[in-house]
Amino acid sequence: MIKFILNDNEVHAAAPAGTLLLDFIRYQQHLTGTKIGCREGDCGACTILVGEILDGKLTYHTATSCLMPLGNAVGKHIVTIEGLNLEGLNVIQQAFADEGATQCGFCTPGFIVSLASFCLAQKEPVYEDAIHAVNGNICRCTGYKSIERAAAAINKRMQQRQQQEPMRFAEENNFVPTYFSTIQQRLSQLRETLFSRSQPVAHKKKLGGGTDLYVQQHEEMVNEDIDFLLDDHTLNGITLKGNTCWMGASVTAADLAASPIFREYFPNMESYLQLVSSTQIRNMATIAGNICNASPIGDFTIFFLALDAQLQMRSGDTTRIVALRNFYKGYKQMDKKQDEVLEKIFFQLPGDNALFNFEKVCKRTHLDIASVNTAILLTMDGDFIKDAGISAGGVAAVPFYFPHQ
Ligand code: FES
Ligand code: FES
Repeated sequence: MIKFILNDNEVHAAAPAGTLLLDFIRYQQHLTGTKIGCREGDCGACTILVGEILDGKLTYHTATSCLMPLGNAVGKHIVTIEGLNLEGLNVIQQAFADEGATQCGFCTPGFIVSLASFCLAQKEPVYEDAIHAVNGNICRCTGYKSIERAAAAINKRMQQRQQQEPMRFAEENNFVPTYFSTIQQRLSQLRETLFSRSQPVAHKKKLGGGTDLYVQQHEEMVNEDIDFLLDDHTLNGITLKGNTCWMGASVTAADLAASPIFREYFPNMESYLQLVSSTQIRNMATIAGNICNASPIGDFTIFFLALDAQLQMRSGDTTRIVALRNFYKGYKQMDKKQDEVLEKIFFQLPGDNALFNFEKVCKRTHLDIASVNTAILLTMDGDFIKDAGISAGGVAAVPFYFPHQ
C-alpha cells in the first residue's frame, strides 16, 4: 500500500508504485482540476504541491504530476487545486479574477498551485520569487501581463506577513484552507506506519526524480519494478570534507540552489539554474539522474565535468570511484555495471584564485534543452591561467571534457 495525504484525506493506494500521480489524481480520485497538457513536464498544467517534513519543518514545493510516480509521494502531502479551495475564492484565485489573469482557464489551476508554493515558502516574499514560482507554467491565452499583475497583487498581500510564521499567516488570511495546520502532525503519524526502505536491488530500475525516464518511457514505467532513490536518506545531502564537496545521488537541482556551499563557491548559481528547466522540474530532477541519463547535452553533467567531478559507484558492499570524464564510453554508454548505483558525486571546490562559468545556447533562453552548453574552471596565477577544466555538450556523442596537461 502506498500511503500519503492527498489534500485533506489520507490515501492508501493499491495502484503500482510506478503509476503517474497525474493519472491517479484524475482517474482514480476524480480530481480533474489538475490538467493534462504536454505530459512531458513542459507546460505546468498538472502542477501540484508536495509537502514533506524537512529538518522538522513542513515544507512545500511544486512538482509536475505528469512526471511523478506514486512511489515518490509516499509519506508526503500532495495538494491539488481542489485542496486549495475555500468556501469562496482564496487570495490567489481572487487576484487572478481581479486582474483578468484567466481566460480559457486551462492553465489556471497550475498557476494558482505554483503561486501557493510562493506564499508558503519560508522566505521573505519578493515579487521576483512570485514570478520565478510560475516560470514552469505556460498560458496560451493571456499574454502573461495580467498574470504578472496578479502575482504583484499577491506579493503585495504577502508583505503583511512580516514576522509571522508562513503557514499560520497563509491559513489566517485565506491563502490556504485551515486543514493545513493539521498536516505536520498527520504526516509524522503517517511516517511511523511506513515501511523502511531496503537496499537497492540489482534487477530493479533505479529512479530518482523521474523527470527523464517518465518522458521517455511513461507507459512502460507503470509496471516496472522500481527502486525509489529520491527519498533514500542515505543518498541525501551536500556536505564538505576538507575542500571536497560530496553530494548524495538524490540531491536535486533545487537542493543546489538552496545549498550554502554552492552559494558561496558559485555566486552565479541562481542564474545558471534559471537556464536549466523550470522550478517544478528543478524540484524533482536529481544531479545523479542527469549524469546517468548520459545525454551529450546534460546541463549538470557539463557543469560537473568542468569541475572534474568523481563518481562513487556502489554494488552491494563494494564501491569504486570513476572520474566523470571517463564515465562515458559512447553515445548513452556508461562505465556502469547493471547492478551498480551511482551513490555519490564529489569534487574539489574551486579555490580563491579560480574562475568558473556555465553557459548554454538554445532556441529559447528558458525552458529549453541546450543546442550546446559549456562550463569552464580556470585556475589563475595572477593574470596567467595555470590550469583549465573545460567541458562542452552537444559537440560529440558524449559530454565532452577537453583533455589538458
Ligand atoms: Fe504539461 Fe505536466 S502536463 S507539465
Ligand atoms: Fe487559457 Fe491560460 S487562460 S491557457
